[in-house]
Amino acid sequence: MKVLICGHRGMLGTDLMIRLGVDHQVIGRDIDEIDITSYDSCEETISSIGPDLVVNAAAFTDVDACESRREACFAVNADGVANLALVCRNRGIKLVHFSTDYVFNGIKNSPYNEDDPCDPLNVYGLSKLEGEQKLQGAGCDYLLIRTAWMFGKNGKNFVQAILSKASANPVLEVVDDQQGCPTFSPDLSEAVSRLIAGSHSGIFHVTNSGQCSWFEFARQILKTAGIRNVEVRPISSDKLARPACRSSYGVLNNEKYSLATGHTLRHWKDALAAYLKAVGH
Ligand SMILES: NC(=O)c1ccc[n+]([C@@H]2O[C@H](COP(=O)([O-])OP(=O)(O)OC[C@H]3O[C@@H](n4cnc5c(N)ncnc54)[C@H](OP(=O)(O)O)[C@@H]3O)[C@@H](O)[C@H]2O)c1
Repeated sequence: MKVLICGHRGMLGTDLMIRLGVDHQVIGRDIDEIDITSYDSCEETISSIGPDLVVNAAAFTDVDACESRREACFAVNADGVANLALVCRNRGIKLVHFSTDYVFNGIKNSPYNEDDPCDPLNVYGLSKLEGEQKLQGAGCDYLLIRTAWMFGKNGKNFVQAILSKASANPVLEVVDDQQGCPTFSPDLSEAVSRLIAGSHSGIFHVTNSGQCSWFEFARQILKTAGIRNVEVRPISSDKLARPACRSSYGVLNNEKYSLATGHTLRHWKDALAAYLKAVGH
């Protein structure tokens, strides 16, 4: 297939270019070539390329900045998705799109299923939920993949932030009252490739296996990187006072994905080890 990847220079977009490029002709476009907040820009790009499939990895992903830049955030995460979805519907093209565990409020204490009710706690989550709804309402064939806590070689992420802080501080304070599923972007890209190959449509939760708190994630990062002279201390979210509220529980149930593809993503600790090796740690 000829596959257009929007946001191909982002963390996930870069790995999707590599993985989907194995089986398909991939064409990447980012903000300087397609502005998904403009219907005309989407229409022009898609009509000139003529893809069989569009993958949207473009998004406004700075969760804290979304609180003060609400309009810009909704323009990309909600209206941008609607623009792509309408062009895809008009041309009979399937759209693959990504969303987040932040669409849930975290009061559940078992992994979230695809059909659990959504109730975002922050502006980013609200904008991503509106994007989901606009995608589902547009009438195009779609694959909507919710993921979480992503890390990869080509974007700002928690692993990189912890390594950088550890190089300058003997003690790191990390929140231990939020649980989630770290997800390695090349592993997610493999899952996307499998869902596309199986012609699956609808919503799927896809993350690496296992779950942890940010505190446990940070400790594992230092342990795997062989950094022994830095202490990680658990703190509560209140102490950080970040602009965006975070839910205490965002674990996503991957059962539907595993049943559909016969595949389960490896444990996040193994994915972390692969990432650290890839970046030379
Ligand atoms: N990162 C995570 O932890 C995480 C977790 C759950 C779900 N997700 C979802 O996964 C998807 C990919 O996330 P990511 O972390 O790979 O994102 P990312 O690294 O921030 O990349 C997004 C890309 O989209 C581009 N972009 C922004 N606005 C655009 C516009 N109007 N038109 C076209 N391109 C635009 C960005 O360009 P600039 O850099 O120039 O703005 C960037 O290249 C998103 O849907 C995100 O919501 C991410």
